[in-house]
Amino acid sequence: MRTAVLRSIRSRLTSSTSSSSPHLLRRCYGTESVPERKVAVLGAAGGIGQPLALLMKLNPLVSKLALYDIAGTPGVAADVSHINTRSEVAGYMGEEQLRQALEGSDVVVIPAGVPRKPGMTRDDLFNINAGIVKSLCAAISKYCPNALVNMISNPVNSTVPIAAEVFKKAGTYDEKKLFGVTTLDVVRAKTFYAGKAKVPVADVNVPVVGGHAGITILPLFSQATPKANLSDEEIVALTKRTQDGGTEVVEAKAGKGSATLSMAYAGAIFADACLKGLNGVPDVVECSFVQSNITELPFFASKVKLGKNGVEEVMGLGPLSDYEKQGLETLIPELKVSIEKGIKFANQN
Ligand SMILES: NC(=O)c1ccc[n+]([C@@H]2O[C@H](COP(=O)([O-])OP(=O)(O)OC[C@H]3O[C@@H](n4cnc5c(N)ncnc54)[C@H](O)[C@@H]3O)[C@@H](O)[C@H]2O)c1
Repeated sequence: MRTAVLRSIRSRLTSSTSSSSPHLLRRCYGTESVPERKVAVLGAAGGIGQPLALLMKLNPLVSKLALYDIAGTPGVAADVSHINTRSEVAGYMGEEQLRQALEGSDVVVIPAGVPRKPGMTRDDLFNINAGIVKSLCAAISKYCPNALVNMISNPVNSTVPIAAEVFKKAGTYDEKKLFGVTTLDVVRAKTFYAGKAKVPVADVNVPVVGGHAGITILPLFSQATPKANLSDEEIVALTKRTQDGGTEVVEAKAGKGSATLSMAYAGAIFADACLKGLNGVPDVVECSFVQSNITELPFFASKVKLGKNGVEEVMGLGPLSDYEKQGLETLIPELKVSIEKGIKFANQN
């Protein structure tokens, strides 16, 4: 039973991409042919960090798992380390151990920072999280400047530009290696679409573009597969539910935080895609908020092909419905303000 559950989780983690062949999946299982990869989780004792640490421990592509937080990591690391899977786990606590946590990392996942409470927008988190992200990114530029950075800390629309500015100042910026994690928007869009279209959720693909807050989240249901004949009203309702998915969880948790379990799942899917890309698996595609020139904005979420150096290709938006075109037009000014806010913060503080 236990083996079956593990196998099923692993199989999801190694089959998130649309075009991974069974041959490649099989190759991922044999630890001998899989390269050594170190993943660091910063904020590992938090609501997202702990289940994310668990899921990364289940990922056969990880050989070293570094769990860093300002408090609580010895316990989380001891607990997770007893799981009999490939990776070696180490816990690091406090700034004096950040260097060790980061050195040698191939992928750094950042869920450090405060989450929302009811009535708050992601932007309300800016003041605290911007400073946390800034200091963590300064350490990344010193200790593992070549790592792929997966930014989960909100507001992603601003924390990614902050990270870019910090890396630019340190002379280590590589636009191919910085990712805002928007996978939870995709996960939600797939779940909600499958429910409405009455199709098996495992078969569903829906690109989600734009940014990661409110109306900046633009699911492209016109490109969803399998196709379904949903009415305009149904598409509007699905779009709104995807945009408000985070708030749905914040309100249901009634002051006890925001999405953690579904976010850990989404973060694990995205980190797994990054690892597969690094390992040379072809055609790994996920949506992410990255440096982009597909719109007038310097950062934008769209489908991205991942490769041995991170972003291999920022893919275009594809054909949009009139409703989506309108959504795109409306989101651009709001996303622009958030991006500029991040850049300004990084350069002023
Ligand atoms: N990208 C997304 O889709 C998405 C979804 C949900 C939540 N989030 C964001 O993820 C972040 C974390 O959420 P959570 O629910 O896990 O919060 P949490 O408060 O449960 O955990 C955050 C952790 O970060 C740690 N931390 C604080 N400062 C740190 C520092 N300087 N270095 C290292 N660790 C530090 C805290 O000690 C804590 O353990 C929030 O910003 C939240 O808004 C993003």
